[in-house]
Amino acid sequence: MEKNRLFPQINGLVHGGDYNPDQWLDRPDILAEDIRLMKKAGINSATLGVFSWSAYEPVEGEFHFEWMEEIIENLYQNGIYTVLSTPSGARPAWLDAAYPEAMRVNELGLRNHHGIRHNHCMSSPKFREKVGIIDRKLAEKFGAHPGVIMYHISNELGGECYCPLCAKRFQEYLADKYNHDIEKLNHAWWTSFWSHHYNSFEQIEPPFQNGETSVMGLNLDWKRFTTWNMNDFMKHEIGTLRSVTPDIPVTTNFMRLFEGLDYRKMAPELDAISWDNYPFYHNDYETFADTMADTAFQHAVMRGLKRGTPFMMMESAPGMANWHPYNKPKRPGVHALSCLQAVACGSDTVQYFQWRKGRGSYEQHHGAVVDHLGTDDTRIFQEVAQVGESMKKLAAVAGTLVNAKAALLFDWDNRYAIKDVKALADETKKYEDTCIGIWKQFLKLGVEMDIVGSDEDLSQYDLVAAPMLYLLQPGTAENLKRFVERGGQLIATYFTGYVDSDQLCYLGGFPGDGLSELFGIVSEEIDTYYPSDRNHVRFEYGGTWEVFDYAEILRVKDARVLARYTEDFYADTAALTCKEYGRGKAYYMAARVKPEEMIPLFERMLADAGIPVRKLPAGVECHVRTGEEGSYVFYLNGNAGPVEVEDAEGVDLLTGAEIHGTLTLPGYGVAVLSKSL
Ligand code: GLA
Ligand code: ZN
Repeated sequence: MEKNRLFPQINGLVHGGDYNPDQWLDRPDILAEDIRLMKKAGINSATLGVFSWSAYEPVEGEFHFEWMEEIIENLYQNGIYTVLSTPSGARPAWLDAAYPEAMRVNELGLRNHHGIRHNHCMSSPKFREKVGIIDRKLAEKFGAHPGVIMYHISNELGGECYCPLCAKRFQEYLADKYNHDIEKLNHAWWTSFWSHHYNSFEQIEPPFQNGETSVMGLNLDWKRFTTWNMNDFMKHEIGTLRSVTPDIPVTTNFMRLFEGLDYRKMAPELDAISWDNYPFYHNDYETFADTMADTAFQHAVMRGLKRGTPFMMMESAPGMANWHPYNKPKRPGVHALSCLQAVACGSDTVQYFQWRKGRGSYEQHHGAVVDHLGTDDTRIFQEVAQVGESMKKLAAVAGTLVNAKAALLFDWDNRYAIKDVKALADETKKYEDTCIGIWKQFLKLGVEMDIVGSDEDLSQYDLVAAPMLYLLQPGTAENLKRFVERGGQLIATYFTGYVDSDQLCYLGGFPGDGLSELFGIVSEEIDTYYPSDRNHVRFEYGGTWEVFDYAEILRVKDARVLARYTEDFYADTAALTCKEYGRGKAYYMAARVKPEEMIPLFERMLADAGIPVRKLPAGVECHVRTGEEGSYVFYLNGNAGPVEVEDAEGVDLLTGAEIHGTLTLPGYGVAVLSKSL
């Protein structure tokens, strides 16, 4: 048995999703039918109680858990385990009426009215108290039930609160961070500029939209505080549950590359990382395979939050969502492809929002396993049931891991800093897109790439891409130097190492903190192009790349120049350099070019790194999960038509076919080739 298993109770992968029986308590016939249908669809887990607060506690202090007790027991008797949520994601009306401080205040200082969800104040002692009471009761009531295998904290935590309680906590957070020395803060925030000096921490306000938004240090510290405060709120919930049932693992559902919270800071508090996956399939602005590749990147972000443990795809839409700009159903076959992509990338679960469509309100038309039609012969139900079958066949994959030899550095502070900085062009900064664009090229080459923080241990990697690392965390430069010194292949780009973690510019040349020594260059200027501006980069050995958006002008100290600009006042100056440093190589790409044009460079780096490239047909992804007993090679066809993959080897767990050489995948088809060790 694989040692990394998230759920020892389940002999394999988890297949389930959000189940809202509290919407159907007056329909026992439907609740009974749910069980029959779940078994038919191969469901072995249900996520319960995500928004059930008013069903548990309809008026303050009056609790009803009987209904849930019956549901959990009934599911368990039928082989279906419970992921039990805490209900803090949405508040009952009585709570907001009695304790208005639970309602958030927005960036203009205006308090919300009651309603919607996901909008509580993270600081309010009263709200924390109420959450603590219900969480404790849930743990006491259900924690010992053998069917309960995990806690799910709240729902999609996010957002900011500017209320007086949060403002006060922000001041305390800052006092703590700057050792109660306001001059340390004044220096870090460079407040001598525009007379923004503070005399005390009490004078500091959050960056209200109609207040102080021009201090970069304040803006970033506010973002950091918001993560800290949300984490603190989440820890309050986790602590309450663990004080009753310390052994039940805990997760909370993240949202892809959500900007508002630094997930890297929250991950250590959780036993497993889970996320909600709603790709915009079949859109009119990119190929289907591109949408898939983007999703693969998001999976890699989640995988990177807890390396060494499988993650969970906590939600995904059977059929379609209802909040996309255009809510298009997945074409036949795409449901399975999407689910198995999650598993291929390292998820041990395929979970849905939602099991059954609710009759009314906001999500009544959101995709579900069971439609309003109510039958098991719908296309969606059939495709879900087919995934249920596949999940059983892939039981051995549970607990295995994706082992990458390449990594891309992605940093949330850097992300905020780039977004906030008054420089470049707001329209074209595109930090995230730049990272995703580079990451996708490695995917095309069949190379698995982790996403890691800029100060994380890089010793398991042989190749690292660090695009647009404008802000350097303490230790990042040293980390990168160590990596190259011991033989790593590193590529950085324009807009690297301009500021430290306070966002103060490095003096003495960019990239700072010693990185200009690593790359052997100093970046002296950056040219921001209008959308129609173009330049070119020409290689010494022939070939050109088109430059758009950004071009840095370099002074070369002791690096080899591989390519030069062809036009403008910096024609013939260096655009791509390489310096041998220790046993490795540090490349600096000074201009923005289409990431696919950089493939020959990436291939060269991969060859030096000793990482094999896999030739795949266009639109086909390959991911490998490895465990103690064997490895599982997933081939995913992101094309509507069939393709042939060469050099495939192993037994397809989905069909039982033995493959030696050519593997034919139907349109949107998947194969999982197993090889014993
Ligand atoms: C999110 C939420 C769910 C549901 C889905 C709809 O992921 O967590 O409660 O609203 O979106 O897609
Ligand atoms: Zn608040």
